[in-house]
Formats: sequence, structure tokens, C-alpha cells
Amino acid sequence: MKGIVLAGGMGTRLAPLTHVTNKHLLPVYDRPMVDYPLETLITAGIEEIMVVTGGEHAGDFLKLMGNGERLGLRHLNYTYQKGHGGIAEALGLCAHWADGEPICVILGDNLFEYQLSPGLMAFADDPKGAMVFLKQVHDPERFGVATLEGDRVVDITEKPSQPNSDWAVTGAYCYDAEVFEIIKTLKPSARGELEITDVNNAYLQRGMLQAHKLDGWWTDAGTFESLLRAGNLVAKSGANKSHES
Ligand code: DAU
Repeated sequence: MKGIVLAGGMGTRLAPLTHVTNKHLLPVYDRPMVDYPLETLITAGIEEIMVVTGGEHAGDFLKLMGNGERLGLRHLNYTYQKGHGGIAEALGLCAHWADGEPICVILGDNLFEYQLSPGLMAFADDPKGAMVFLKQVHDPERFGVATLEGDRVVDITEKPSQPNSDWAVTGAYCYDAEVFEIIKTLKPSARGELEITDVNNAYLQRGMLQAHKLDGWWTDAGTFESLLRAGNLVAKSGANKSHES
């Protein structure tokens, strides 16, 4: 399985910081934001990784990350998204590189306390359709939200004003190669983006979407409030880890 970190977009919610650097290079506690999704892929045993970046400061990635040696990688692939046409547009840029293999995609501003297994491992064993990872949150209207019947997802709505549940669809996704065909059929949403939620609903309509509920904390870091929360969560779990060792 190949891994993709999506670190394009403009990061306007973190202006003025993002006037001088890419959002995903801002610090979350003691490391750049992009380290965390990269590490989530690496700890899952994924070594072939593509980073999609964009904006005016994309060159800073090379200065900071190089070939990913600091994280134990031998090589890191990069591609460039012009503009900010959405998460699904950024993912579509990886079609040629993925070359028919199943992929695990993580948004560059998403942090997970634990590995994505066992869900990820189950998908890797039989990589058909798609898998999303769910987490209960207190502010579901900020996210893609799953409508559940029992444990089954029956719909996903992007940023609903009146959410049907408090189960957010986190920014980690597994897909088979069909994802790139689905992306070609998408139309821009009201906010002018190709939405990853539309991709996931397309799999749902085909009966090919699995959902896995995550243990541990999860947060995005794309607003000042969530950036602060992410830093605090990382600091606290680091402190816990050093107590354990
Ligand atoms: O954090 C999880 C949420 O992420 C999901 O619950 C939503 O369904 C999903 O749409 C997304 O919501 P946001 O509106 O918060 O996503 P945002 O625009 O902040 O983009 C998240 C990351 O995706 C960003 O850090 C980099 C990448 N991205 C985004 C856009 C718009 C790109 O690579 N290219 C893009 O054009």
C-alpha cells in the first residue's frame, strides 16, 4: 500500500502565519505539523509516500523535509497543486504515481494519537472499495459527518448545519484504484472544491465503503483553536509516554 499526505490548500484560516510559510510547516508543539501524518503512515509500515503541496511556500518543504531522513525514510515524493481546488483535486494529482495500487491518504493537518490499525490492516489485507475512520466530536458541524444505522454508515454530509450524529469522518482514508475514476466524475461543490466527502459517498452508493471507529484522540490543526488543542494533546501524550518508559 502507498501513502499520500495532502498538504496543499491556502491555509487561510491560519493567516497571517500562512502569509510567510505553508500551514503544514507550522509547529505543533515541538515539530512541524506535517511530521504527524507522515509518522502515522510510517508507523503503519508504509514507506512509499507522496506529499502533495501547493501555494507560494512549497519550496520550504524541501528545505525542512528533504527525503524524509529525519523520519527514517530513504525517499519522499512531492507533487504540486496549483490553487486550492479541494482535497479530491489534490488526491487526483497522484493517480499516475499510485499506478493501480491501494492507497492510504491522510490530510496534512490531521493528528491521530494511535496508529490507524486494525482498520488499516484489515483494508491492506483485502484492499477493495474504501475505508473511512470515524471519531466522536463535540463540534461535528466543522467536519464531514456520518449518519449511522447501527454501525453502518448510510450517508456522509460535509459540514452540516444540523448534524445527524456526532461521528466526524476524520482526515484518513483508504482507497482502491477506482478512486481516481470517481474523482474524474466529481463536480465542484458550493465552496468551489472537489470534495472528498463526494468521493466517499460515491463508494457508499456502490456498497463499497467500510467505516472504522478510532481509539485515542484525533484532531485537526487548521484553525487557531485546533492548532492550540493539537499542541496541547501532543505535549500531554509525550509526557505520558516518557512517564511510561
Ligand atoms: O479534518 C477532517 C475534515 O477535513 C473532514 O471531516 C472533512 O470531511 C474534509 O472536507 C476536511 O475538512 P476541512 O474543510 O477542514 O478541510 P481543509 O480545507 O482545512 O483541508 C484539510 C487539508 O487538506 C489541508 O490541511 C490540506 C489538504 N488540502 C485541502 C484543500 C482545500 C489540499 O491538499 N488541497 C486543497 O485544495
